[in-house]
Amino acid sequence: MAESEHQRQIEEFGKDDDFWLFGYGSLIWKPPPHFDQRIPGYIEGYVRRFWQASEDHRGTPSAPGRVVTLIDRAHWETLADHDSHTPTERVWGAAYHIPARHVAEVREYLDIREINGYSIQFTPFHPAPFTTQITSPPATSHGASPVTCLVYIGLPENPQFLGPQDTDELAAHILRSRGPSGENREYLFNLEKSLLELSAESGDRHISDLVRRARAIERERGDGSGGEDGDDHRGDRRVGVPLHKVGSTEEQEEVER
Ligand code: BEZ
Repeated sequence: MAESEHQRQIEEFGKDDDFWLFGYGSLIWKPPPHFDQRIPGYIEGYVRRFWQASEDHRGTPSAPGRVVTLIDRAHWETLADHDSHTPTERVWGAAYHIPARHVAEVREYLDIREINGYSIQFTPFHPAPFTTQITSPPATSHGASPVTCLVYIGLPENPQFLGPQDTDELAAHILRSRGPSGENREYLFNLEKSLLELSAESGDRHISDLVRRARAIERERGDGSGGEDGDDHRGDRRVGVPLHKVGSTEEQEEVER
């Protein structure tokens, strides 16, 4: 698609009260402000990997942490991925509907994310067959037809994109990283937990494998919970905390990837 056409699509998106945002990272447990519907579901044609450096949220410029990005599946197939798990066709996450009157404010708030290397794409989102929704006012029904979603992706050409990572080194790196939004391990553990809560099929083996390796390292070192129950007993207050709505962009801390 020509750059000008893409720009036009970005500007027009959401004009008909149809602004849907797909979250596959921290957005799953840290929703955007002003959403009135949250629907678990999936997109296709991408692979989720912890291949994006984070200098502003889970790391610092001198010691970047690691967060997830999506890689176009056709491109991923050309790469030598160290993760031996073949990813599923579906990338699970949550789609948020932003009412038309809040779109401009939320767009401005979300665009902050692009600074650290993320770009906008549009893709069909498939609601999970049986969804739990957080709506205000409560929705009466929702069809299962796909909706077009906006999604932020750290493309391979962005400077924070790292490409394939050795899985054990990646787990160790996550354990030693922290940034303004907190410990990188908390991001990893929250991501796995919130993914597993979306549906019976929404686990991601890349993420669960990293959690398993990270917990094994912590057990070996005698720190962290290293527990099997998925709960974090090391003062990680976000794990297990129910999703809650915030009313405005001011109330919400700056969005992280
Ligand atoms: C997310 O899905 O949480 C996300 C991904 C990239 C940029 C911003 C948010």
